[in-house]
Amino acid sequence: MIEIENLVKKFGPFTAVDGISFKVEAGQVLGFLGPNGAGKSTTMKMITGFLAPTSGKISVCGHAVNGDARAAKRQMGYLPEGAPAYGEMTPAQFLQFIADVRGLSGSHRTERIATVIEQLHLDRVINQPIETLSKGFKRRVGLAQAILHDPKVLIMDEPTDGLDPNQKHEVRELIKGMAQDKIVVISTHILSEVDAVCTRAIIITNGRIVADETPQELIARSPSGKLDDVFREITLAEHLS
Ligand SMILES: Nc1ncnc2c1ncn2[C@@H]1O[C@H](COP(=O)(O)OP(=O)(O)OP(=O)(O)O)[C@@H](O)[C@H]1O
Ligand SMILES: [Mg+2]
Repeated sequence: MIEIENLVKKFGPFTAVDGISFKVEAGQVLGFLGPNGAGKSTTMKMITGFLAPTSGKISVCGHAVNGDARAAKRQMGYLPEGAPAYGEMTPAQFLQFIADVRGLSGSHRTERIATVIEQLHLDRVINQPIETLSKGFKRRVGLAQAILHDPKVLIMDEPTDGLDPNQKHEVRELIKGMAQDKIVVISTHILSEVDAVCTRAIIITNGRIVADETPQELIARSPSGKLDDVFREITLAEHLS
């Protein structure tokens, strides 16, 4: 379980995350929605221990991220925004490196590496330096490293960004398949994706939660039945208030 209590992040005088609280349980796929600059990535960086909160509490599977960060990080896979990786490495070398970092060994290690290469269709580019890969393939390498140790908690910042339509579909299926016994948190600007994969949607505006419902409940708010219209209404209202 992830438990977040009154999370705040300030950058100098600017408050990027302004008192966010929520809990997520195994089996849930939580979608983070919100306009550019709302605080989605900043929140994800704090959950995964890459950015220290100004105040507030985060616990992942019973481990406090600001206390026992190593134990918390062991439970998580994280796909950051963009596709950071070591550009000079090939996907094969990068996945070996991540397997070392994650302490995988023996046949389990071999099996996990082979599985993610197959799941993300990396075989064709497996020996090509990552910096020379196309945007979508870089993203797929990022996804592969995030799920390599088969974590209980997956935090993915715009996982389908830059993927072609077929890969978008496959990654959504992958997320749905993994979700049964895991906690998955994704951010996305593709609202149809929320309806397709998420069991719950949190809308963030100006660092605050302005909606926390199922995608169906959100859709039901609009006479048009379109999530885009609901999103626009909620976030614009918040912006003006
Ligand atoms: N290191 C930093 N220093 C100063 N301001 C920052 C820093 N990191 C983020 N911010 C600011 O915090 C706010 C939230 O940024 P964040 O990246 O979390 O937004 P986001 O919801 O992920 O947006 P997007 O949809 O564009 O990815 C923005 O105004 C951003 O400029
Ligand atoms: Mg972001």
